[in-house]
Amino acid sequence: MRLLVATRSGHKLREIRGLLADVPGLRLVDLNDVGIAETPKEEGVEAFETFEDNALAKATFFQKASGLPTVADDSGLEVDALGGRPGVRSKRFAPGGEDLPGEERDRLNNEHLLTLLEDVDLSDRTARFVCAAALVREPGKHRIFRGEVEGLILGRPRGWDGFGYDPLFFHRPLGKTFAELSREEKSRLSHRGEAFRALGAHLRSTQTGGAET
Ligand code: IMP
Repeated sequence: MRLLVATRSGHKLREIRGLLADVPGLRLVDLNDVGIAETPKEEGVEAFETFEDNALAKATFFQKASGLPTVADDSGLEVDALGGRPGVRSKRFAPGGEDLPGEERDRLNNEHLLTLLEDVDLSDRTARFVCAAALVREPGKHRIFRGEVEGLILGRPRGWDGFGYDPLFFHRPLGKTFAELSREEKSRLSHRGEAFRALGAHLRSTQTGGAET
């Protein structure tokens, strides 16, 4: 089966390719492979209040555009001391960052988060990354998988790998931020890892004769 992975993020694409690599008979293609250029309309698709609704809207949009079974995810950071913010607005959190390229926007988002948490003790800086992955095989036929990972928001960035809030997100059991993890460690622990492993298990079970929903 050809499956379109609908993301414009190179980081996410690499992670997702790794996570679905062992599903037999699956050929992953990306938006460039199928020639779907970025449009302003695409940005407006993720306008909902939950990760699940956004992932489903994105997968539905690109399934329609490509005619292929499509997977899309929506993910973000929920910080308890901020009432769950930035949540579904994680990408466009910092004022003025909307139109900046990825790395600059990430840096501004991290600075904004640190400013908001300035007076919050480390023990109260609990947070989680959340990912919802939606699979749309054809119009009206979808499944959604969710993954979460708990952590703490540090007072300053640590580590050089990863993207987004990774340098501030401290995973207590490993004693490292997500920007200090190897790719294998991040795949094993991350919200995206959990969601896409569940999606991979579903694909495997439906390809080997399980009930397809
Ligand atoms: P989206 O799923 O592309 O809408 O991403 C939302 C935003 O959440 C990203 O731009 C990052 O700021 C943040 N985010 C999601 N997943 C991760 C992760 O694995 N590490 C760091 N930041 C993440």
